[in-house]
Amino acid sequence: MLYHSLLPLFLAPLLAASEIPFKEYILAPPSRIIRPSIVYGTNGTVSGALPGTLTLAAKSSITYDFGKNIAGWVTLVVEDARNASSINVTFSESSLWISSEHCDATADAGFDEPLVLEIDGEGEYSAPWERERGAFRYMSIAAGEEVVLGDAWVYFTAMPHWGDDALQDYTGWFHCDDNQLNRIWYAGAYTNQLDTIDPLRGDALIFFQKITSASIVNGTLPWYNNFTITNGSSALTDGAKRDRLVWAGDMAIAVPGLAVSTFDLISVANSLDSLFALQLENGMLPYAGTPFNEAGAISFTYHLYTLIGVADYYHWSGDLTYLQTYWPAWKHAMSWSVDHVDSSGLANITSPSDWLRFNMGGYNIEANSILYFTLNLGISLASTMNDTSVVENYSTYMAGIKSAANSILWDDKASLYKDNETDTTLHPQDGNVWAVKSGILPTPSRAKEISAALRERWTPYGAPAPEAADAISPFISGFELEAHFMANETQNALDLMRMMWGDFMLDDPRMTNSTFIEGYSTTGELHYAPYTNDARISHAHGWATGPTSTMTIFIAGIKLTSEAGRTWSIVPQTGDLQYAEAGFSTSLGLFSSSWRFDKKDSLSLEISTPEGTTGDVGIPTGGKDGIVEVRGKGMKFRMKYKSDEYNRFWIHDLEGGDYEINILRK
Ligand SMILES: *[C@@H]1O[C@H](CO)[C@@H](O)[C@H](O)[C@H]1NC(C)=O
Ligand SMILES: *[C@@H]1O[C@H](CO)[C@@H](O)[C@H](O)[C@H]1NC(C)=O
Ligand SMILES: *[C@@H]1O[C@H](CO)[C@@H](O)[C@H](O)[C@H]1NC(C)=O
Ligand SMILES: *[C@@H]1O[C@H](CO)[C@@H](O)[C@H](O)[C@H]1NC(C)=O
Ligand SMILES: *[C@@H]1O[C@H](CO)[C@@H](O)[C@H](O)[C@H]1NC(C)=O
Ligand SMILES: *[C@@H]1O[C@H](CO)[C@@H](O)[C@H](O)[C@H]1NC(C)=O
Ligand SMILES: *[C@@H]1O[C@H](CO)[C@@H](O)[C@H](O)[C@H]1NC(C)=O
Ligand SMILES: *[C@@H]1O[C@H](CO)[C@@H](O)[C@H](O)[C@H]1NC(C)=O
Ligand SMILES: *[C@@H]1O[C@H](CO)[C@@H](O)[C@H](O)[C@H]1NC(C)=O
Ligand SMILES: *[C@@H]1O[C@H](CO)[C@@H](O)[C@H](O)[C@H]1NC(C)=O
Ligand SMILES: *[C@@H]1O[C@H](CO)[C@@H](O)[C@H](O)[C@H]1NC(C)=O
Ligand SMILES: *[C@@H]1O[C@H](CO)[C@@H](O)[C@H](O)[C@H]1NC(C)=O
Repeated sequence: MLYHSLLPLFLAPLLAASEIPFKEYILAPPSRIIRPSIVYGTNGTVSGALPGTLTLAAKSSITYDFGKNIAGWVTLVVEDARNASSINVTFSESSLWISSEHCDATADAGFDEPLVLEIDGEGEYSAPWERERGAFRYMSIAAGEEVVLGDAWVYFTAMPHWGDDALQDYTGWFHCDDNQLNRIWYAGAYTNQLDTIDPLRGDALIFFQKITSASIVNGTLPWYNNFTITNGSSALTDGAKRDRLVWAGDMAIAVPGLAVSTFDLISVANSLDSLFALQLENGMLPYAGTPFNEAGAISFTYHLYTLIGVADYYHWSGDLTYLQTYWPAWKHAMSWSVDHVDSSGLANITSPSDWLRFNMGGYNIEANSILYFTLNLGISLASTMNDTSVVENYSTYMAGIKSAANSILWDDKASLYKDNETDTTLHPQDGNVWAVKSGILPTPSRAKEISAALRERWTPYGAPAPEAADAISPFISGFELEAHFMANETQNALDLMRMMWGDFMLDDPRMTNSTFIEGYSTTGELHYAPYTNDARISHAHGWATGPTSTMTIFIAGIKLTSEAGRTWSIVPQTGDLQYAEAGFSTSLGLFSSSWRFDKKDSLSLEISTPEGTTGDVGIPTGGKDGIVEVRGKGMKFRMKYKSDEYNRFWIHDLEGGDYEINILRK
């Protein structure tokens, strides 16, 4: 190794929020007042235009396209009411359900009724408090009698705890040479913002608010959002239009995406609080937050997802007080889970509720992989808590699950795990991607087999989940992205993101071009197997935002290996990209990584991590040996390197700071 003289380096100051690069990609509006301007269509006699003066003749309507999914309370300014006494407003996320007579749907039947604004002469008329519409790209205005409007706007209600002009105050960014991937990253970040709501206006499932189908009015159903789902001033929910409820499973994908973009962790804590408030004496946590818990469903997996939620929250925030608050409840909940483990070593699942897949039971591979993963998190949290009492216990369960799952559930012919011990044909997406993610595999190379077998069955619209009939699940496919990255099959992850999230979920004209849909069919129809009513499907579901975190963590390669990034690794995965960069901040400071192939065989990598942290850097070598130059923190050296078996050259235990690393592959 050859060290050159130590040169002082100019260190860039930490970025303030206002200096975050690539802000032009952020889809959140610059301020809360959003005015309609693009006319999608008209029906009847419509003259003039907004902004300006718009005249709707009797029995006429106009539909506006906001160009992206938004949320909020509508206000109409009536300039001349003529003889009219009401105006109807309807909303839809997808172009499929545009109608002047009804909204899209929140229930599993029918359509949602129009918002009827009673008017009495000129003036401003706004939607009532509980008639905030949680998500819509299209808004139609219909009048039974002629009416003249002078203005209209929507007051954007998502992210209620952020300042009116601060909705674009991200702490993170991503950029690479594929603009479709850039759009996907920002759409994921925005989806999680739209799903972050005022907890006083939760629950769009009116049936859980004790309203029955008897309230169906001429084929349309009432809707409103006014159920308090948690304490605090914001909550991360599953979906913006619906359910507007706390679901821990959804958070397993949404939280990392939120952490690398807005870092809005308070909404995560508020939502987790509502689940622990419902923990039963036997340790069991609810399937979903209030009031859904009243339905009494039990979910082995969503119970564990709440525990993963605490670990995730602590991982990103480093908030030890929060962990200390819930650690006893966490262990108690885990004892409920491991009580399902029998002499086989595996948990026997007897509660069918999960992410709406079918036949969740027996020695299910998904549930057991998630249990293994969560036990492992428990060992790490126990170490933080200096609580060694559970370590041996959790380790024993982990060893039992790993050994039994691999002997009972692996199907060598298919190169995939079976769903359960009696299953002969179904190789589930959820169980296989979770097996890779959990670390249950006997050898790392098995991840490559699973990656290839999953890719083999992709449809033109995405990765199928045969465990939920003909569904494509953007939720489980988010974990599939992670599985391909973990297998170092980077190209599989990039190809799936482009095909599924880019070509289909963003660019298909039935989508919002801004937020990600909950689920759809392998045929590309917007039908989601667990539901009968297609108009009900949510087009802004946090569980569909997997690309946002995986691009930052695997493509830019920034992985926090302990809380708030006290330790970290930067291990970029390049695939067919030529350049990528990302950054985000935690309480310890800014983490960023930017890499570029300058010429064919030379790669430059610039990284920045907070002072006082330490980490490892794994530079992609393409399998070739060569020369590496490192500059930073008063250090400057140039030396020969050897590529390792995973096509990387490693620099271990680097102190936090700014570094520039160049490699020339020979
Ligand atoms: C308002 O109602 C009156 C009486 O029914 C009718 O003569 C008039 O044409 C109506 N005006 C408009 C603008 O519809
Ligand atoms: C247009 O108006 C007619 C009559 O009011 C109504 O039946 C029809 O559904 C409307 N079309 C749309 C696309 O809203
Ligand atoms: C407005 O909505 C109400 C309630 O659904 C309906 O009865 C009425 O016909 C609608 N008016 C127009 C002009 O569509
Ligand atoms: C429902 O339809 C009936 C018959 O068309 C009508 O008389 C009634 O006013 C409608 N109800 C509402 C609430 O629009
Ligand atoms: C929510 O709003 C509906 C319709 O206005 C009302 O009937 C109901 O009582 C409200 N519920 C709560 C919890 O405020
Ligand atoms: C709000 O906090 C109170 C007091 O801690 C708790 O009893 C209640 O369950 C919480 N409500 C919700 C919806 O989480
Ligand atoms: C799992 O538990 C159920 C209910 O107790 C039982 O019927 C079933 O046989 C068990 N499965 C296995 C594989 O032991
Ligand atoms: C095991 O998987 C098969 C195939 O999906 C399914 O038919 C069966 O119901 C599952 N068993 C249980 C106990 O859920
Ligand atoms: C665990 O022990 C270490 C070393 O004694 C101490 O610094 C740390 O504060 C302890 N952590 C907790 C959560 O008690
Ligand atoms: C783990 O601890 C629980 C009590 O908390 C006990 O019932 C169980 O048998 C232990 N399991 C193992 C495998 O040590
Ligand atoms: C992927 O690469 C990492 C090193 O970057 C290595 O630790 C891991 O074992 C590899 N996984 C597989 C399946 O090759
Ligand atoms: C989708 O949104 C992007 C901005 O994110 C915009 O550039 C593009 O034109 C939109 N596509 C369509 C078809 O409107």
